[in-house]
Amino acid sequence: MNISAPPEQMKSAALAKRYGPDAVPAAGPWNEHIELLLSHRSIRGYRPDELPEGTLETLIAAAQSAATSSNMQSWSVIAVTDPATKAELAKASNNQRHVEECPLFLVWLADVSRNQRLGDEENVELEVMPYLETFLVAAIDAALAAQNAVVAAESLGLSTVYIGSLRNDPMRVKELLGLPAGSMGVFGLCVGYAAPGVTNEVKPRLSQPAVLYHEKYGNPDEPRLRAAYDEEMAEFSRRHEMTQSTWSERVINRMGAISAIAGRENLTQILREMGFPLR
Ligand SMILES: Cc1cc2nc3c(=O)[nH]c(=O)nc-3n(C[C@H](O)[C@H](O)[C@H](O)COP(=O)(O)O)c2cc1C
Repeated sequence: MNISAPPEQMKSAALAKRYGPDAVPAAGPWNEHIELLLSHRSIRGYRPDELPEGTLETLIAAAQSAATSSNMQSWSVIAVTDPATKAELAKASNNQRHVEECPLFLVWLADVSRNQRLGDEENVELEVMPYLETFLVAAIDAALAAQNAVVAAESLGLSTVYIGSLRNDPMRVKELLGLPAGSMGVFGLCVGYAAPGVTNEVKPRLSQPAVLYHEKYGNPDEPRLRAAYDEEMAEFSRRHEMTQSTWSERVINRMGAISAIAGRENLTQILREMGFPLR
């Protein structure tokens, strides 16, 4: 993006990248924050360079500035830089090379153990603790915090990629990081400087009418919108020599067979063992 280009031109260029040239939504307000959000892309190759001093603390301040349910702040994060721990976490996350490669790996925890310790110290039974709602609140809080950190990182010229495969083996993550009962690594996040040559094209999304409904759910035009997006993603895949060609195929591959979730089908039982009864 040419930063000296006029705002209108930057806006339509950013929207065309996000949706493809045929699905650009109506023009609206614009500024550099929105420009940054629209330029997001996950990066899966990192230079070994360490982050400037204080970067971690800045990212966490951004994370802690996210909204949090009832201000309970039911999340924690573990910053991992030790190569041996990163190597083990990479193994536990379907051997994703970038987990080892990135200089900073953040493990985001849904964490109600702090609240439990508070209840224990005050001799109060926290009746809400065992319910699914409590885990959901903690997982949502962790996701909102992490996404603020992602935006902050990208604003500093850093790159990131979330690692959901961290949930393939939550018990191994617990063991590696010494997690207490009532905390679980819900996803990881690689942070660092993109390696040269790593693909950095914005990945198009479904067009807005496929996800934005007005007043009531649904759009009768969905099959056509999906077909158009399939075409857009097939083009994207060809440009990046990726194996799965369309979005529909990708969703079917990801959701059509239990094997695609690599152990995560057992999460309910594992969560119970980790101190989330999920009543
Ligand atoms: C919760 C979550 C978990 C993810 N897990 C992984 C992962 O384990 N490995 C990976 O390479 N990308 C992972 N991603 C990144 C997505 O694949 C990526 O966001 C998506 O393909 C859209 O691409 P973009 O982020 O470049 O726009 C994850 C994203 C999210 C939000």
